[in-house]
Amino acid sequence: MRVLMVAPPGAGKGTQGAVIAAHFDIPHVATGDLLRDHVARQTPLGRAVREHLDRGDLVPDEIVLDMVRDALMSAKANGTGYVLDGMPRNITQARAVYQVAKALDMTANVALHLKADDDELIRRLLARAALEHRADDTEEVIRRRLALYHEVTHPIVRWYEERGILVSVDAMRPVERVGRQILTALEAMRPLVDLVPEHARRPVDLTGLGAAFGDG
Ligand code: AP5
Repeated sequence: MRVLMVAPPGAGKGTQGAVIAAHFDIPHVATGDLLRDHVARQTPLGRAVREHLDRGDLVPDEIVLDMVRDALMSAKANGTGYVLDGMPRNITQARAVYQVAKALDMTANVALHLKADDDELIRRLLARAALEHRADDTEEVIRRRLALYHEVTHPIVRWYEERGILVSVDAMRPVERVGRQILTALEAMRPLVDLVPEHARRPVDLTGLGAAFGDG
């Protein structure tokens, strides 16, 4: 299974990425985690990107693309799929990831879109700030990250919809229910992903199916 996630800050990319990775036994490639690790180790790359992360701005496309290229090559060498968390963030990255993956015969089977309201996202990230002290979890920077999401990231959802690989999930529900809905959808698609070409598929919108997943 090869999955990439498109979702605003706080929607649960990290949380659900770990669930998907464990379920399918695939690597969880989280660009934010990789970048924060460089910052913590004070590598040259970490020093170069630190201010971008602290301000809530995107780091240059080439930096994250190199990371993702390495991760996909390693997944290919190990014969696994992947779950990509935090990339792509704009249409340039979306096209570049597609080209890199295509050259490896590893394009995503599913683009998973997690939908949630801004007020809830801000609440979650401020709650996390009290526990984890991430440098970009101040209210001002959270609002900057959200604005950037709406401006440059959310528009790429449409691109995946047109490609027929989009699965949309309501991420406002509790963690376990969101996870159950994602895994149910991915398991249902598993037999199809290698058999039905993208152009013959249709986007899947599960955001109105609360009752079917125990919300009734
Ligand atoms: P990144 O680490 O990707 O941060 P983000 O997109 O802002 O997302 P978060 O990690 O804050 O949230 P999440 O969606 O993963 O949610 P989580 O599961 O953690 O990127 C950080 C920075 O790196 C960027 O700002 C940028 O500078 C740079 N960067 C990264 N990728 C880049 C790229 N491709 N190009 C350029 N720059 C890039 O959950 C959040 C909280 O909510 C947790 O406390 C969790 O427990 C809780 N929670 C999760 N789900 C639920 C739920 N259903 N109900 C209640 N609480 C929940």
